[in-house]
Amino acid sequence: MVASIGLPKETKDGERRVALDPSAVKSAVRAGYDVLVQATAGVGAGFSDSDYEAVGAKVVPGAAEVWAADLVVKVKEPQPVEWGYFREGLKLFAYLHLAAEPELATALATKGVEAYAFETLEERGGLPLLAPMSEVAGRTAAIVGAHYLAMGSGVLLGGSAGVEPARVVVIGLGVAGTMAARGARGMDAEVTGIDIDLHRLYEAHQQGTVTATLASSEHAIGEAVAGADLVIGAALVTGARAPRLVLREHVTNMRPGSVIVDLAIDQGGCVETARPTSHSNPVYEELGVIHYCVTNVPGQYPRTASRALSAAVAPKLIELARDPGSSKLAGSLNVAGGKIVHPVVAEALQR
Ligand SMILES: NC(=O)c1ccc[n+]([C@@H]2O[C@H](COP(=O)([O-])OP(=O)(O)OC[C@H]3O[C@@H](n4cnc5c(N)ncnc54)[C@H](O)[C@@H]3O)[C@@H](O)[C@H]2O)c1
Repeated sequence: MVASIGLPKETKDGERRVALDPSAVKSAVRAGYDVLVQATAGVGAGFSDSDYEAVGAKVVPGAAEVWAADLVVKVKEPQPVEWGYFREGLKLFAYLHLAAEPELATALATKGVEAYAFETLEERGGLPLLAPMSEVAGRTAAIVGAHYLAMGSGVLLGGSAGVEPARVVVIGLGVAGTMAARGARGMDAEVTGIDIDLHRLYEAHQQGTVTATLASSEHAIGEAVAGADLVIGAALVTGARAPRLVLREHVTNMRPGSVIVDLAIDQGGCVETARPTSHSNPVYEELGVIHYCVTNVPGQYPRTASRALSAAVAPKLIELARDPGSSKLAGSLNVAGGKIVHPVVAEALQR
């Protein structure tokens, strides 16, 4: 039975989000739970300790006290410094991305943690706890892509009179890809959207989110990427390792100083040359192409992102505390009884 909920301060590099804002904490307190908030957990997102105290939370100085709660809710997957807090029977609710984090999966399973992932919770065919952050990450991808083009090839997304606009290729037109395409279109770039789901292509085409669409295939991606100034990777198969769609040979054909933003890096990346980067060190160059592969992109807009995440998470958190077997949490349970229990995640990890 869950009596207490813990809200730790995030530990991942550059991560300023917090999983619950004061209004979400108020809902949990009203629902009858003791909420323990680690001091300064919300400061990066503009929420002070006294904001949390005012809604009935107990603010505690250290991470250990928060992790001692029955149910811990946080934004990013626990970092190695936090694994020492894992224990039998602890319930954890967070982004886990276990297909790309085999060591974390092992640590959770061997310590007997019951781990529920935001990103695999399914409702009405969508991913309601991933969508708000994909929206933020997608919008951000267009901004950082434009920014690094200035440092690389020097191409401006919108071009100029007599000069063609930049060519942007977005792979995966789901929530993140659609917002990235809208951002790039908003800056007047030419945007090609690629997906395996023809209905998504049809919708993007009809709505003018993109200037062209392509059905996903190795050949189509190779050709589109070769002519692109900016490639944004946002393909996802829920729970699985990201499909590897942009191959090294495709990157070789890009013009020097072009940019790749691989949002799917949190699931292992959909670009062969992508490897995880951090907010402190967000880019590297490979094959003459600038790669931006930050695994927690929304962390740089902590106020907007925390409020959006918190609004989506709060009702599910209360449901989890009340009834972990509820159908409203479908797909979220990843680790239980010492095993990886989500079939797609288990397959990705070959467990
Ligand atoms: N790096 C970050 O900080 C960050 C933040 C938020 C989301 N993300 C990631 O962005 C990715 C996209 O998330 P989303 O919420 O938009 O997912 P989504 O499910 O809404 O969309 C994924 C899209 O990928 C398409 N797709 C699947 N296989 C494909 C293939 N072979 N070729 C082309 N398209 C294919 C799907 O049809 C779908 O339209 C995920 O990996 C997610 O974890 C990363």
